Amino acid sequence: MIKAVDLSHQVPVFDGTLEILKDIQLEIKAGETVAIVGSSGSGKSTLLGMLAGLDLPSSGSVELNNIDITVLDEEKRAALRASHVSFVFQNFQLLGSLTALENVMLPLEVAERAQPLKTAKEYLARVGLSEREQHYPRQLSGGEQQRVALARAFASEAPILFADEPTGNLDAETGGHIADLLFTMNNEANTTLVLVTHDQTLARRCNKQFVMNAGKLAESAPAAR
Ligand SMILES: Nc1ncnc2c1ncn2[C@@H]1O[C@H](COP(=O)(O)OP(=O)(O)OP(=O)(O)O)[C@@H](O)[C@H]1O
Ligand SMILES: [Mg+2]
Repeated sequence: MIKAVDLSHQVPVFDGTLEILKDIQLEIKAGETVAIVGSSGSGKSTLLGMLAGLDLPSSGSVELNNIDITVLDEEKRAALRASHVSFVFQNFQLLGSLTALENVMLPLEVAERAQPLKTAKEYLARVGLSEREQHYPRQLSGGEQQRVALARAFASEAPILFADEPTGNLDAETGGHIADLLFTMNNEANTTLVLVTHDQTLARRCNKQFVMNAGKLAESAPAAR
């Protein structure tokens, strides 16, 4: 489902070149749940962006569903993302000028899905926010905003979900509820999940765990978990 081969990324900095990703090899099967942990600045978000086709690596390839996304032009990559990928971010990334319902509905409308309103209402109900359909993000707590973001992500019914620190801005209890909801919805939809987290409890709920260390990725042995 997701395959990265010899993935490397460098960016020019004032005194030379910064190596952000070093020769990463990764294979994730359909329906697997994968956690990537590692210290701040080790390259986790950069890797996620490359796997999702948001950015292009300096070298190496990324396949989604057997399609090499690194050789596609921006338009084709955007189309592949739209049909294959959804996201949940640490800072929720809801549009402040749209209501909760409109936030969930917008990507469905862009993708020209049948019955966007009905689908959006169903997914908001799924995360327990039917009463909040007409509320704007600023009227919602962090946990509620992340529930809207989960509704938006799963409503797209994309086969792959990338989540970058989905509980990072929430207190432990709220984060726990969001994690439960994420795994429940993921299980029902059988989505392939790639999760970046600092939270070991969350990481341990995934089928596989990888550790990012200064741009290098290694699978952590089950015994060490
Ligand atoms: N476009 C860029 N130009 C220069 N440096 C960059 C660029 N993008 C990322 N970096 C650097 O690459 C390193 C990895 O960044 P990244 O955001 O992937 O880390 P991370 O593991 O997600 O960290 P965190 O846990 O804090 O979110 C950091 O040192 C960052 O400053
Ligand atoms: Mg990050």
